[in-house]
Amino acid sequence: MQRRKFLQTTLILSAGLPLFTSCSQDWRKRTPPGRFSKYDDQVRPLLARMTLREKVGQMTQAELGQLGDGSAVARLALGSVLSGGGADPEAGNGLAAWTDTVAGLIDKSQESRLGIPILYGVDAVHGHSNVLGAVIFPHNIGLGCTRNPALVERIARITAEEVRATGIHWTFAPCVTVPRDERWGRTYEGFGEDPQLSASLGAAAIRGLQGEDLSDPLSLLACAKHYLGDGGTTYGSRAFRGRFGIDQGDTRLDEDELRRVHLAPYLDAIAAGVGTIMVSYNSWNGAKVTGIRRLLTEILKEELGFEGLLISDYNAISQVDPDRDTAIMQSINAGIDMAMEPDRFEDFIDRLTALVEAGKVPQARIDDAVLRILRVKAAMGLLDPERNQLPDRNLHQTFGSAAHREVARQAVRESLVLLKNAGNILPLNPARVKIHVAGRGADDIGMQCGGWTVEWQGKMGEVTTGGTTILAALRAAVGDAANVSYSADGSGAQGASVGIAVIGEIPYAEGVGDRADLAIDPADHEVVARLKAAGLPVVVILLSGRPLILGDLLDEADALIAAWLPGTEGQGVADILFGHAKPTGKLSCTWPRGMAQIPINAGDADYDPLFTYGFGLDYV
Ligand code: BGC
Ligand code: BGC
Repeated sequence: MQRRKFLQTTLILSAGLPLFTSCSQDWRKRTPPGRFSKYDDQVRPLLARMTLREKVGQMTQAELGQLGDGSAVARLALGSVLSGGGADPEAGNGLAAWTDTVAGLIDKSQESRLGIPILYGVDAVHGHSNVLGAVIFPHNIGLGCTRNPALVERIARITAEEVRATGIHWTFAPCVTVPRDERWGRTYEGFGEDPQLSASLGAAAIRGLQGEDLSDPLSLLACAKHYLGDGGTTYGSRAFRGRFGIDQGDTRLDEDELRRVHLAPYLDAIAAGVGTIMVSYNSWNGAKVTGIRRLLTEILKEELGFEGLLISDYNAISQVDPDRDTAIMQSINAGIDMAMEPDRFEDFIDRLTALVEAGKVPQARIDDAVLRILRVKAAMGLLDPERNQLPDRNLHQTFGSAAHREVARQAVRESLVLLKNAGNILPLNPARVKIHVAGRGADDIGMQCGGWTVEWQGKMGEVTTGGTTILAALRAAVGDAANVSYSADGSGAQGASVGIAVIGEIPYAEGVGDRADLAIDPADHEVVARLKAAGLPVVVILLSGRPLILGDLLDEADALIAAWLPGTEGQGVADILFGHAKPTGKLSCTWPRGMAQIPINAGDADYDPLFTYGFGLDYV
């Protein structure tokens, strides 16, 4: 029970502040009241004109691929449409196809009786990551290592601009999870294991996405997720695709502990004015959070004063109970305002309407949900009859621009963590080295981007989205192509003066990435061994969504850099290797010695990891 031990300890941050605030504090104090409820007078007359079925339609989110010709958007007066990971427009995955598709659906929604525009949502979780040509930033675990809220805010601003260029209003980000077990396939979605780190960077992301004012056409509606306890699930508490896993599992903590570790980031998210929160797939002590009124209504809405809308996760409502009517009734009564029902949206509307008619879901609960949805729409300017709701195609000019990529490159630089630098082999002098670059990650944009990139699971190869591989960046930095050779497997390195091995995890997302064993792949080990056999000092660049078990690799490598999932801008890696910038990244999660130590987090009793939370070397 390492987690329990952890919670009994009061941690001290480097700044000398207690890491966890006490539960007896007034949690409400940090909520700015009125941010969304100030629109109530404006939206109540509209609410009063709506039929029950129209209200339930507003509460429903369908997925693009299931909408056929899109006429259901108007016929059902849907509140929202999403594209999940990899759910592209039929016309293709480029900027124009996306913009046309979104514009078409917004248009359709305005043809419903009341003409309330949809909110269109996507997972722009590290840039506008579904769309070809968008700049892809490091995943959150790497951003956590920057410890730089201003940079995270800037990244979020750019993401907002690129998403708004396609007319989309809403991103299911930031993920403010507090991952406590690296076996979890979603570890990289979080900023790190410390609730306060997640809180401060999550709030920065929300400020950047939503801007000063949500009605600004450049503002993007944010969504803090996944509420609550997604990062605290017990390994083995859920079977996934026939394997024991951790994603969508059970978080076994009492309420005090749940608050102290997992609720903390939501206080800051609400204080930053986040408009929406996504409820998590996981259970809390055996019951699905999606159906728990205590968490959704009593704590989040009543105690913390969250005024925005609460959305369920992708098909999550069906997990609340095997009987679909019971599942819907329990989730809506618990406090879900909008249901992410990608394909069964019409069935959801039929059933929820009937449940209200039968008195099983109170009319007042429906009115509260729709009020919250309309508030957010009003805040976004969607209910302004004077306003053109269609995408602003002028924004296409800066989509994926060099200026945006420059910020991503900075983020890569600042996220890299130098773990070892024997004999100060780094930085390298580009004028004096002959490099052999090796490893499956060296020339692979897909691998350096990880999951949630163009495809839900991400994908190896160039297939994805443009950008600069680490190999290309090294070649550009060295200038003389003759001084940079390359092999995927590390062969043919003789004659070089240094080997650089870019190795690590291949892309994954969610439960597909759950792993019982985080050992370095034997094939990656062999790459390093071949470079060593050629007599070279070896620099290892590790691409991964979490700490991996290094084993012998730590001895074999002369220098080792954790580069996480840096995204499209490989030059940031070259910047550090050649000393154009000093490494400043600090671990956002504890690095275990072996699997037996997992879960391991700062503050555990007997805390004896390979590298502590906050570790990171500098150049001398
Ligand atoms: C994920 C969410 C995501 C949603 C929509 C779910 O499977 O858990 O993080 O926002 O899908 O794509
Ligand atoms: C979707 C993702 C979603 C997942 C849920 C996928 O098919 O593309 O967005 O998160 O299903 O399991």
